[in-house]
Amino acid sequence: MEYGVGDNSYTMAGKLAGISKLVDDFYINMDNFPEAKKVRSMHSSDLFESKKKLAYFLSGWLGGPKLYAEHYGSINIPAAHQHLSVGVEESNAWLLYP
Ligand code: HEM
Repeated sequence: MEYGVGDNSYTMAGKLAGISKLVDDFYINMDNFPEAKKVRSMHSSDLFESKKKLAYFLSGWLGGPKLYAEHYGSINIPAAHQHLSVGVEESNAWLLYP
């Protein structure tokens, strides 16, 4: 199966259930990695909405249902982060994987 064609990437990611698991694990790591403390503190203590937004965004980005657009409207990722102070340290923390 070729990635990036139709909803293949979305399907291979396990559809919304798989994406939600990925997002849950991502935020569990953010909670646990000392290097990610600053990035975690940029979020509210309750991550429910952040997780939902990221999972919905990734659904559309992977070729599946455009859930973010349906629920929240259009998004421009750089603009959505403009109020945040994101530099190299924050970027590395975001991408950190042990
Ligand atoms: C250095 C990297 C990044 C940092 C530090 C960061 C941080 C944040 C923070 C603090 C929020 C606000 C969360 C909240 O409302 O509680 C947010 C929102 C969001 N981020 Fe990121 N982010 C990064 C990269 C990314 C990437 C790569 C993506 C996409 C794959 C992404 C997708 C989103 C989306 C969809 C939202 C929700 C925007 C909204 O509707 O308000 N972010 N991000």
